[in-house]
This record gives sequence, structure tokens and C-alpha cells, in this order.
Amino acid sequence: MTMATKVEEAGFRPASRIAAIGVSKILQIGARANQMKREGHPVIILGAGEPDFDTPDNIKEAAKAAIDRGETKYTALDGTPELKKAVAEKFRRENGVDYALDEITIATGAKQILFNAFMASIDPGDEVIIPTPYWTSYSDIVEICGGVPVLVPCAAAAGFRLKAEQLEKAITPRTRWLLLNSPSNPSGTAYGEADYRPLLDVLLRHPHVWLMVDDMYEHIVYDGFRFVTPAAIEPRLRERTLTINGVSKAYAMTGWRIGYAGGPKAVIKAMAVIQSQATSCPSSVSQAASVEALNGPQGFLKERQESFRQRRDLVVAALNAIPGIDCRTPEGAFYTFAGCAGLIGKKTPSGKVIETDADFTDYLLQEAHVAVVPGSAFGLSPFFRISYATSEAELKEALQRIAQACARLA
Ligand SMILES: Cc1ncc(COP(=O)(O)O)c(C=O)c1O
Repeated sequence: MTMATKVEEAGFRPASRIAAIGVSKILQIGARANQMKREGHPVIILGAGEPDFDTPDNIKEAAKAAIDRGETKYTALDGTPELKKAVAEKFRRENGVDYALDEITIATGAKQILFNAFMASIDPGDEVIIPTPYWTSYSDIVEICGGVPVLVPCAAAAGFRLKAEQLEKAITPRTRWLLLNSPSNPSGTAYGEADYRPLLDVLLRHPHVWLMVDDMYEHIVYDGFRFVTPAAIEPRLRERTLTINGVSKAYAMTGWRIGYAGGPKAVIKAMAVIQSQATSCPSSVSQAASVEALNGPQGFLKERQESFRQRRDLVVAALNAIPGIDCRTPEGAFYTFAGCAGLIGKKTPSGKVIETDADFTDYLLQEAHVAVVPGSAFGLSPFFRISYATSEAELKEALQRIAQACARLA
């Protein structure tokens, strides 16, 4: 008997706070693709949200040394002083923002940072403005915390960026946060200073709205794009801005689970209350490794960025060569978010009409054995996301199969 049937037989009643939240579409697709692989189909999965590189050796060595020194116990609740110092130095060096140590928090991944922040600040019915397409965890976490995600669709023609007029219209007396993510998962869109400026001007006029920014993909930007973070652009908003980042993507450390944030002392303190009863502290060994990640050599970041850029160019060019698919060139991250409007209404060889982007990605999985994620999973259709954090050979093969499958649509 499986665990699931046992739970059902015991009459398990899920809490209402998770009623609206299903298992993420990304995980569902991954599970189906893996099942097909086990059945012997040559499936290529372009769904993973993590770099295919390994964690650099100096970081692994730092972790081993921490274990040998006996740093295997609980640490300070929201981060060791050493890691907080490294984070403060990082914010100063790379972003031009000064945070004192009590304005910094460390957690088990940026995901826990988001969770702590929303748990600590949202009352039932409070609203969080999230531009779409968006990373689905944002709205799910807001809902778990009793909040209301206010999703604002951002057009491909606008580079998937939120416009000032849209923000102004979305703000209500219940708005607590605007949540921005640059470079974005899933669109790869990044906000330059000129893109941020009009949005920050709107926020200056609405002092009850706080700004949460997720800078997770800061180090994966292309073509000389100049990364900026809002707390550096507009010091008048610093006192209501939470700047989130982490080591997962830049340092290929997704499994180490360390994220961090800088923000006003009051919110950092409130977040520690949540963390104290959730995890007590982040992993001691992973924090030691993250000190080395932030303080150690940074040269490999540029090399990896260049490798991602080559793959981005390969994917964008191959997608745009397929009639019916339209892909803008993203400024960062390792995702493309291509439009498939030109394929909607077409018929598959077995006679099924492609009515949605999910129909299209189902078709790709079934016919081309390539797993990608439909735009509907990120709140904007008809699009599909490719994660190109995989080998060039695999990407070439996958894109060839996608092109052939599209050519078979009538
Ligand atoms: C935009 C964005 N923020 C945060 C995260 C999560 O990062 P972490 O591994 O630090 O929890 C992800 C992971 O996919 C992401 O895409």
C-alpha cells in the first residue's frame, strides 16, 4: 500500500491554506518525463531550474574544512556572523548597497527567505502584486500565507516587463508588496535602471507598499547588460525594500540550500521569528561553504556566463527558425520563454487540435520526447519555457526534434 492511499484511508483532510495549491505543473511534467525515460523512451528534459555545472572545488573544500573543525552544530538563528559579513561585503562590492549585520538574514534557500518574509508580513487578504509570467512559487507561497496574489500580465511586446501604469492600477489599500524578479524565471527578462525607474517612482507615491526583489540570477546576464538592484537606485525606498539573493544559481549550489536577504531591521527581525520555529537555523556546513563562495575567487562566474550565452544564442536562433514560434532574446537567467501562438489551432498527425500551450508541450513530450513547460504554468499563455542549462549536444538534438514535430503539425 502506498503512503498516499494510507493517508486517504485514514481520512486525511488537507488544511484550507493549501486547498488552492496543486502539485506544480513543472514537477508533474518532470515526473511524467522521468516515467517515460524509465519505460525506455529517449526523453530530453529541458525543465530543470538549475545549472548543469558542479559546485567549484574551493567551495567544497571549505565545507569539508568546516566539518573537520567541528562546525556541525546549530548556528546563530538567522546566520553565522562570518556569512553575514560575507553577504554585507557582497552587497557593498557588487551592488553598492550598505547593510549592517542586523539588516541581513540567511535561510535555507531563497525560497525560505520568501516564505519567512511573507509569513512575517501578510495578514489574511493582504495583496502581493506579481508581474506575470512569474515563478509559480511566488503565488503559492503568498497563498499559503493567507495573502492574495495580484497577477499582472506583462506583454511579450513590452519585453515581459511591468509598466508603471499597470503597477499604479494594481495598487489598492490592501497592497503589502510588489514582488519583482530580474533576471526573471521564466522569461529571462532583466530590468535595467531605466526600466526600474518609473516603477520606483510609483512606489514613492504609495508609502504603504513595500518592494521585494529577487536577484537570484544576478550573475547570469549577457551582452554587457548592467545588473542593478532597486535599493541601490533609490535610497528613499531602501527602508521598505527587501533584497533577496542566494548562492544556488551563480555558484551551482542548489543542493546546499543557502539564500540570503538584506532589508530594514524590523522585517529581518520578524523573519527570524518565523525561521526560529521552522528550521532553527540554516545548515552550518552549507553556511561555511557559502562564505567561501562569496569571498573566494569569482573569475569562473564570467566563464560560466559565457557558456550560458552560447547556449542561449543557439536556442533562440533554433526556435525562431521554426514557423509559428517566436522567441525574444532574454537578457539573463538560463531560460527562453517563446511564444507559440502560431501553432495554436493546428492539428497533430493523430488528429488532435492544439488548443493551448499545454496541448503543445504535451505533444512535444509525446511525439518529440522533449519535456518543456507550458506558459500556463507561469501564468501567461500561449508560451513555453525551455531551460537551456544542459549540454549543447542535448540542446541541439532537442531543438531538432521540436522543429520536426512542429513541421508535422497541419
Ligand atoms: C527566481 C527564483 N528565485 C528563487 C529560487 C530558489 O532559490 P533557492 O534554491 O535559493 O531556494 C529560484 C529557483 O528556481 C528561482 O527561479
